[in-house]
Amino acid sequence: MDPAALRSSFPVLARVAYLNAGTNGPVPTAAVQAAQRELDSALHEGRTAAHYARRTELQHQLRARYASLLGCDAAEIALTTSTSEGLGRVLAGLEIGPGDEILTSDQEHPGLLGPLKAARARGAKIRFGPLARLAQHVTEATTLVACSHVGWLGGELADRALAEVPVPVILDGAQGAGAVPVDVRALNCDAYAAAGQKWLCGADGTGLLYVSPELLERLLTIAPSYTSFAQPGKGIDAPLQSDASRHDTPSLARESVAFNVASYDTLGSGGWTTVFDRAAGLAEELASALRARGRRVAPRGATTLVAWEDDEPTATRQRLADAAVVVRDLPNTPYLRASVGAWNHPDDLQTLLSAA
Ligand SMILES: Cc1ncc(COP(=O)(O)O)c(C=O)c1O
Repeated sequence: MDPAALRSSFPVLARVAYLNAGTNGPVPTAAVQAAQRELDSALHEGRTAAHYARRTELQHQLRARYASLLGCDAAEIALTTSTSEGLGRVLAGLEIGPGDEILTSDQEHPGLLGPLKAARARGAKIRFGPLARLAQHVTEATTLVACSHVGWLGGELADRALAEVPVPVILDGAQGAGAVPVDVRALNCDAYAAAGQKWLCGADGTGLLYVSPELLERLLTIAPSYTSFAQPGKGIDAPLQSDASRHDTPSLARESVAFNVASYDTLGSGGWTTVFDRAAGLAEELASALRARGRRVAPRGATTLVAWEDDEPTATRQRLADAAVVVRDLPNTPYLRASVGAWNHPDDLQTLLSAA
Protein backbone atom coordinates (compact mmCIF):
# COMPACT_ATOMS: atom_id res chain seq x y z
CA MET A 1 0.00 0.00 0.00
CA ASP A 2 1.23 3.48 -0.87
CA PRO A 3 0.02 5.53 2.14
CA ALA A 4 0.12 8.79 0.17
CA ALA A 5 -2.01 7.31 -2.62
CA LEU A 6 -4.51 5.91 -0.13
CA ARG A 7 -4.67 9.25 1.65
CA SER A 8 -5.29 11.12 -1.60
CA SER A 9 -8.38 8.94 -2.16
CA PHE A 10 -10.09 10.87 0.67
CA PRO A 11 -10.52 14.59 -0.13
CA VAL A 12 -11.58 15.44 3.44
CA LEU A 13 -8.04 14.68 4.62
CA ALA A 14 -6.68 17.66 2.73
CA ARG A 15 -8.72 19.93 4.97
CA VAL A 16 -8.97 18.28 8.39
CA ALA A 17 -7.21 15.83 10.68
CA TYR A 18 -10.05 13.34 10.36
CA LEU A 19 -9.93 10.89 13.29
CA ASN A 20 -13.52 9.75 13.49
CA ALA A 21 -13.95 6.45 11.62
CA GLY A 22 -15.24 4.82 14.81
CA THR A 23 -18.35 6.89 14.13
CA ASN A 24 -18.24 7.38 10.36
CA GLY A 25 -15.29 6.65 8.09
CA PRO A 26 -14.00 9.24 5.63
CA VAL A 27 -15.52 9.01 2.15
CA PRO A 28 -13.33 8.04 -0.82
CA THR A 29 -13.85 9.80 -4.15
CA ALA A 30 -14.26 6.47 -5.94
CA ALA A 31 -17.26 5.60 -3.76
CA VAL A 32 -19.10 8.80 -4.57
CA GLN A 33 -18.34 8.30 -8.26
CA ALA A 34 -19.61 4.71 -8.15
CA ALA A 35 -22.82 5.75 -6.39
CA GLN A 36 -23.26 8.59 -8.86
CA ARG A 37 -23.00 6.19 -11.81
CA GLU A 38 -25.77 4.02 -10.38
CA LEU A 39 -27.97 7.05 -9.69
CA ASP A 40 -27.37 8.39 -13.21
CA SER A 41 -28.37 5.06 -14.66
CA ALA A 42 -31.60 5.04 -12.65
CA LEU A 43 -32.20 8.66 -13.62
CA HIS A 44 -31.88 8.09 -17.33
CA GLU A 45 -32.95 4.46 -17.74
CA GLY A 46 -35.53 4.18 -14.99
CA ARG A 47 -35.76 1.52 -12.35
CA THR A 48 -36.69 -1.49 -14.42
CA ALA A 49 -35.89 -5.19 -14.12
CA ALA A 50 -32.34 -4.27 -15.14
CA HIS A 51 -32.12 -1.94 -12.13
CA TYR A 52 -33.15 -4.76 -9.83
CA ALA A 53 -30.72 -7.16 -11.51
CA ARG A 54 -27.91 -4.64 -11.10
CA ARG A 55 -28.73 -4.20 -7.43
CA THR A 56 -28.62 -7.96 -6.96
CA GLU A 57 -25.29 -8.21 -8.80
CA LEU A 58 -23.77 -5.45 -6.66
CA GLN A 59 -24.96 -7.20 -3.50
CA HIS A 60 -23.30 -10.36 -4.74
CA GLN A 61 -20.03 -8.44 -5.20
CA LEU A 62 -20.26 -6.85 -1.76
CA ARG A 63 -21.12 -10.09 0.03
CA ALA A 64 -18.05 -11.78 -1.52
CA ARG A 65 -15.81 -8.92 -0.37
CA TYR A 66 -17.15 -8.96 3.20
CA ALA A 67 -16.75 -12.74 3.35
CA SER A 68 -13.14 -12.40 2.27
CA LEU A 69 -12.56 -9.75 4.96
CA LEU A 70 -13.99 -11.97 7.72
CA GLY A 71 -12.43 -15.21 6.48
CA CYS A 72 -15.68 -17.02 5.76
CA ASP A 73 -17.87 -18.07 2.82
CA ALA A 74 -20.18 -15.63 1.08
CA ALA A 75 -23.05 -17.96 2.05
CA GLU A 76 -22.37 -17.06 5.69
CA ILE A 77 -22.80 -13.30 5.22
CA ALA A 78 -26.06 -11.32 5.42
CA LEU A 79 -26.14 -7.73 4.22
CA THR A 80 -27.76 -5.49 6.82
CA THR A 81 -28.31 -1.80 7.44
CA SER A 82 -26.09 -1.58 10.55
CA THR A 83 -24.29 -3.39 13.32
CA SER A 84 -27.34 -2.83 15.50
CA GLU A 85 -29.66 -4.52 13.03
CA GLY A 86 -27.38 -7.56 12.83
CA LEU A 87 -27.20 -7.87 16.61
CA GLY A 88 -30.95 -7.38 16.89
CA ARG A 89 -31.68 -10.07 14.31
CA VAL A 90 -29.47 -12.56 16.13
CA LEU A 91 -30.60 -11.89 19.69
CA ALA A 92 -34.26 -11.78 18.71
CA GLY A 93 -33.91 -14.86 16.51
CA LEU A 94 -32.55 -17.05 19.30
CA GLU A 95 -35.43 -18.26 21.39
CA ILE A 96 -34.08 -16.62 24.51
CA GLY A 97 -36.18 -16.62 27.65
CA PRO A 98 -36.26 -17.54 31.35
CA GLY A 99 -33.44 -19.97 32.04
CA ASP A 100 -31.03 -18.14 29.75
CA GLU A 101 -28.10 -16.25 31.18
CA ILE A 102 -26.29 -13.98 28.77
CA LEU A 103 -22.79 -12.87 29.71
CA THR A 104 -21.75 -9.52 28.33
CA SER A 105 -19.13 -6.90 29.15
CA ASP A 106 -19.36 -3.76 31.23
CA GLN A 107 -18.45 -1.54 28.27
CA GLU A 108 -21.07 -2.27 25.64
CA HIS A 109 -22.60 0.14 23.16
CA PRO A 110 -26.37 0.73 23.01
CA GLY A 111 -26.28 -1.17 19.70
CA LEU A 112 -25.85 -4.35 21.76
CA LEU A 113 -27.46 -3.18 24.99
CA GLY A 114 -30.75 -2.68 23.13
CA PRO A 115 -31.07 -6.32 22.02
CA LEU A 116 -29.88 -7.42 25.48
CA LYS A 117 -32.57 -5.30 27.09
CA ALA A 118 -35.14 -6.98 24.83
CA ALA A 119 -33.76 -10.40 25.83
CA ARG A 120 -34.06 -9.43 29.50
CA ALA A 121 -37.67 -8.41 28.91
CA ARG A 122 -38.23 -11.95 27.63
CA GLY A 123 -36.90 -13.36 30.93
CA ALA A 124 -33.17 -13.81 30.33
CA LYS A 125 -30.67 -12.87 33.01
CA ILE A 126 -27.91 -10.52 31.85
CA ARG A 127 -24.57 -10.67 33.65
CA PHE A 128 -21.64 -8.26 33.16
CA GLY A 129 -17.90 -8.83 33.29
CA PRO A 130 -14.63 -7.26 32.07
CA LEU A 131 -14.25 -7.45 28.26
CA ALA A 132 -10.59 -8.46 28.29
CA ARG A 133 -11.16 -11.31 30.78
CA LEU A 134 -14.72 -12.29 29.99
CA ALA A 135 -14.11 -16.00 29.40
CA GLN A 136 -13.25 -16.46 33.11
CA HIS A 137 -16.76 -15.25 33.95
CA VAL A 138 -18.55 -17.98 32.00
CA THR A 139 -20.23 -20.33 34.46
CA GLU A 140 -22.40 -23.41 34.14
CA ALA A 141 -25.43 -21.11 34.10
CA THR A 142 -24.20 -19.13 31.10
CA THR A 143 -26.05 -20.00 27.90
CA LEU A 144 -24.69 -17.27 25.59
CA VAL A 145 -21.91 -14.68 25.43
CA ALA A 146 -22.60 -11.41 23.58
CA CYS A 147 -19.97 -8.65 23.61
CA SER A 148 -17.81 -6.36 21.54
CA HIS A 149 -14.89 -7.67 19.54
CA VAL A 150 -13.26 -4.25 20.06
CA GLY A 151 -14.61 -2.10 22.89
CA TRP A 152 -15.92 1.24 21.65
CA LEU A 153 -14.81 3.26 24.68
CA GLY A 154 -11.07 2.71 24.68
CA GLY A 155 -10.32 0.10 22.03
CA GLU A 156 -9.81 -2.95 24.27
CA LEU A 157 -9.93 -6.33 22.57
CA ALA A 158 -12.31 -9.06 23.71
CA ASP A 159 -10.78 -11.95 25.61
CA ARG A 160 -9.17 -14.33 23.10
CA ALA A 161 -10.19 -17.23 25.34
CA LEU A 162 -13.81 -16.67 24.26
CA ALA A 163 -12.87 -18.90 21.32
CA GLU A 164 -12.81 -21.82 23.79
CA VAL A 165 -15.99 -21.29 25.79
CA PRO A 166 -18.67 -24.00 25.54
CA VAL A 167 -21.56 -21.67 24.65
CA PRO A 168 -22.35 -19.62 21.52
CA VAL A 169 -20.50 -16.30 21.21
CA ILE A 170 -22.05 -13.31 19.44
CA LEU A 171 -19.61 -10.50 18.64
CA ASP A 172 -20.33 -6.84 18.04
CA GLY A 173 -17.73 -6.00 15.41
CA ALA A 174 -18.61 -2.35 14.84
CA GLN A 175 -15.07 -1.32 15.82
CA GLY A 176 -13.51 -4.47 14.38
CA ALA A 177 -14.37 -5.06 10.73
CA GLY A 178 -12.05 -2.99 8.53
CA ALA A 179 -10.09 -1.77 11.57
CA VAL A 180 -8.32 -4.90 12.81
CA PRO A 181 -7.85 -8.37 11.33
CA VAL A 182 -11.02 -10.45 11.76
CA ASP A 183 -11.04 -14.20 11.25
CA VAL A 184 -14.37 -15.58 12.35
CA ARG A 185 -13.04 -19.14 12.29
CA ALA A 186 -10.17 -18.28 14.65
CA LEU A 187 -12.52 -16.25 16.85
CA ASN A 188 -14.80 -19.30 16.80
CA CYS A 189 -17.82 -17.00 17.11
CA ASP A 190 -21.34 -17.85 16.01
CA ALA A 191 -22.22 -14.40 14.77
CA TYR A 192 -20.25 -11.26 13.98
CA ALA A 193 -22.21 -8.07 13.30
CA ALA A 194 -20.48 -5.01 11.85
CA ALA A 195 -20.95 -1.66 10.19
CA GLY A 196 -20.44 -0.53 6.59
CA GLN A 197 -20.17 3.16 7.40
CA LYS A 198 -17.32 3.08 9.92
CA TRP A 199 -13.98 1.41 9.20
CA LEU A 200 -15.09 0.18 5.80
CA CYS A 201 -15.79 3.78 4.74
CA GLY A 202 -19.12 2.78 3.22
CA ALA A 203 -22.50 4.46 3.02
CA ASP A 204 -24.69 5.16 6.01
CA GLY A 205 -27.36 2.51 6.42
CA THR A 206 -25.15 -0.46 5.52
CA GLY A 207 -23.76 -3.35 7.53
CA LEU A 208 -22.82 -7.01 7.53
CA LEU A 209 -23.62 -10.03 9.63
CA TYR A 210 -21.70 -13.30 9.72
CA VAL A 211 -23.81 -16.28 10.82
CA SER A 212 -22.06 -19.60 11.42
CA PRO A 213 -23.60 -22.70 9.81
CA GLU A 214 -24.43 -24.05 13.30
CA LEU A 215 -26.21 -20.87 14.32
CA LEU A 216 -28.02 -20.62 10.99
CA GLU A 217 -29.68 -23.97 11.77
CA ARG A 218 -31.27 -22.68 14.95
CA LEU A 219 -31.72 -18.96 14.25
CA LEU A 220 -35.27 -17.83 13.52
CA THR A 221 -35.58 -15.41 10.62
CA ILE A 222 -37.33 -12.72 12.60
CA ALA A 223 -38.44 -10.52 9.73
CA PRO A 224 -38.49 -12.54 6.53
CA SER A 225 -38.99 -10.41 3.46
CA TYR A 226 -39.25 -10.94 -0.29
CA THR A 227 -35.51 -11.49 -0.52
CA SER A 228 -35.51 -14.09 2.27
CA PHE A 229 -37.41 -16.53 0.08
CA ALA A 230 -35.61 -18.94 -2.22
CA GLN A 231 -38.70 -18.97 -4.45
CA PRO A 232 -40.75 -15.91 -3.57
CA GLY A 233 -43.50 -16.75 -6.06
CA LYS A 234 -44.47 -19.94 -4.25
CA GLY A 235 -46.41 -18.45 -1.41
CA ILE A 236 -46.24 -18.92 2.33
CA ASP A 237 -44.95 -22.47 2.15
CA ALA A 238 -42.02 -21.52 -0.07
CA PRO A 239 -38.64 -22.29 1.49
CA LEU A 240 -36.37 -19.55 2.73
CA GLN A 241 -32.87 -19.06 1.32
CA SER A 242 -30.67 -21.89 2.53
CA ASP A 243 -27.85 -19.54 3.55
CA ALA A 244 -27.32 -16.42 5.66
CA SER A 245 -28.84 -14.22 2.95
CA ARG A 246 -32.22 -15.09 4.44
CA HIS A 247 -31.26 -12.50 7.08
CA ASP A 248 -30.54 -9.79 4.50
CA THR A 249 -32.24 -6.49 5.02
CA PRO A 250 -34.84 -6.22 2.27
CA SER A 251 -33.98 -3.00 0.49
CA LEU A 252 -30.42 -1.75 0.42
CA ALA A 253 -30.14 1.05 -2.13
CA ARG A 254 -28.28 0.15 -5.32
CA GLU A 255 -26.11 3.26 -5.01
CA SER A 256 -25.20 2.46 -1.40
CA VAL A 257 -24.06 -1.01 -2.32
CA ALA A 258 -21.99 0.36 -5.22
CA PHE A 259 -20.54 2.94 -2.81
CA ASN A 260 -19.45 0.18 -0.43
CA VAL A 261 -17.91 -2.00 -3.15
CA ALA A 262 -15.83 0.98 -4.29
CA SER A 263 -14.82 1.92 -0.73
CA TYR A 264 -13.79 -1.63 -0.01
CA ASP A 265 -11.68 -1.77 -3.17
CA THR A 266 -10.08 1.59 -2.41
CA LEU A 267 -9.08 0.45 1.08
CA GLY A 268 -8.01 -3.05 0.11
CA SER A 269 -6.14 -2.16 -3.07
CA GLY A 270 -2.75 -2.38 -1.38
CA GLY A 271 -3.60 -5.33 0.85
CA TRP A 272 -5.63 -5.38 4.04
CA THR A 273 -2.71 -6.47 6.19
CA THR A 274 -0.91 -3.21 5.51
CA VAL A 275 -4.14 -1.28 6.22
CA PHE A 276 -4.44 -2.97 9.63
CA ASP A 277 -0.74 -2.64 10.48
CA ARG A 278 -0.50 1.02 9.53
CA ALA A 279 -3.66 2.01 11.43
CA ALA A 280 -2.71 0.12 14.60
CA GLY A 281 0.85 1.47 14.41
CA LEU A 282 -0.31 5.09 14.13
CA ALA A 283 -2.85 4.56 16.94
CA GLU A 284 -0.12 3.21 19.21
CA GLU A 285 2.05 6.19 18.29
CA LEU A 286 -0.75 8.54 19.33
CA ALA A 287 -1.38 6.68 22.60
CA SER A 288 2.33 6.84 23.49
CA ALA A 289 2.56 10.55 22.64
CA LEU A 290 -0.49 11.30 24.80
CA ARG A 291 0.98 9.36 27.73
CA ALA A 292 4.29 11.18 27.27
CA ARG A 293 2.34 14.43 27.66
CA GLY A 294 0.92 13.21 30.95
CA ARG A 295 -2.51 12.23 29.59
CA ARG A 296 -4.36 9.27 31.06
CA VAL A 297 -5.10 6.96 28.15
CA ALA A 298 -7.93 4.46 28.60
CA PRO A 299 -6.95 0.77 28.63
CA ARG A 300 -6.61 -0.36 25.00
CA GLY A 301 -5.44 -3.26 22.87
CA ALA A 302 -3.67 -3.29 19.51
CA THR A 303 -6.60 -1.56 17.85
CA THR A 304 -7.37 1.71 16.08
CA LEU A 305 -9.12 3.56 18.92
CA VAL A 306 -7.36 5.82 21.42
CA ALA A 307 -9.32 7.45 24.25
CA TRP A 308 -7.90 9.79 26.85
CA GLU A 309 -9.21 11.72 29.79
CA ASP A 310 -10.03 15.39 29.51
CA ASP A 311 -11.52 17.76 32.07
CA GLU A 312 -14.11 19.06 29.63
CA PRO A 313 -14.45 16.54 26.83
CA THR A 314 -17.39 18.19 25.06
CA ALA A 315 -15.83 21.65 25.08
CA THR A 316 -12.46 20.25 23.99
CA ARG A 317 -14.06 18.29 21.18
CA GLN A 318 -15.61 21.51 19.93
CA ARG A 319 -12.34 23.41 20.29
CA LEU A 320 -10.56 20.68 18.34
CA ALA A 321 -13.22 20.84 15.63
CA ASP A 322 -12.54 24.56 15.34
CA ALA A 323 -8.86 23.67 14.85
CA ALA A 324 -9.84 21.24 12.03
CA VAL A 325 -9.38 18.10 14.14
CA VAL A 326 -12.31 15.66 14.16
CA VAL A 327 -12.55 13.40 17.21
CA ARG A 328 -15.48 12.59 19.47
CA ASP A 329 -16.32 12.73 23.12
CA LEU A 330 -17.95 9.74 24.75
CA PRO A 331 -21.13 10.55 26.67
CA ASN A 332 -21.05 10.12 30.44
CA THR A 333 -17.31 9.46 30.47
CA PRO A 334 -14.27 11.72 30.90
CA TYR A 335 -12.98 10.57 27.49
CA LEU A 336 -12.20 12.02 24.12
CA ARG A 337 -11.68 9.36 21.45
CA ALA A 338 -9.60 9.44 18.30
CA SER A 339 -10.12 6.82 15.58
CA VAL A 340 -6.91 6.33 13.64
CA GLY A 341 -7.02 4.86 10.12
CA ALA A 342 -4.46 3.77 7.56
CA TRP A 343 -5.40 6.93 5.64
CA ASN A 344 -4.04 9.14 8.44
CA HIS A 345 -0.57 10.68 8.43
CA PRO A 346 1.63 11.33 11.46
CA ASP A 347 0.94 15.04 10.78
CA ASP A 348 -2.73 14.45 11.69
CA LEU A 349 -1.58 13.16 15.06
CA GLN A 350 0.70 16.16 15.55
CA THR A 351 -2.15 18.53 14.71
CA LEU A 352 -4.26 16.82 17.34
CA LEU A 353 -1.48 16.80 19.95
CA SER A 354 -0.76 20.49 19.44
CA ALA A 355 -4.42 21.46 19.75
CA ALA A 356 -5.60 19.06 22.49
C1 LIG B 1 -19.27 -1.12 19.62
C2 LIG B 1 -20.39 -0.54 18.81
N1 LIG B 1 -21.47 -1.28 18.59
C3 LIG B 1 -22.50 -0.84 17.86
C4 LIG B 1 -22.48 0.41 17.29
C5 LIG B 1 -23.63 0.85 16.46
O1 LIG B 1 -23.27 0.72 15.11
P1 LIG B 1 -24.33 0.87 13.96
O2 LIG B 1 -24.58 2.32 13.80
O3 LIG B 1 -23.64 0.26 12.77
O4 LIG B 1 -25.54 0.11 14.36
C6 LIG B 1 -21.37 1.23 17.49
C7 LIG B 1 -21.34 2.59 16.92
O5 LIG B 1 -20.58 3.45 17.27
C8 LIG B 1 -20.29 0.75 18.27
O6 LIG B 1 -19.20 1.48 18.48
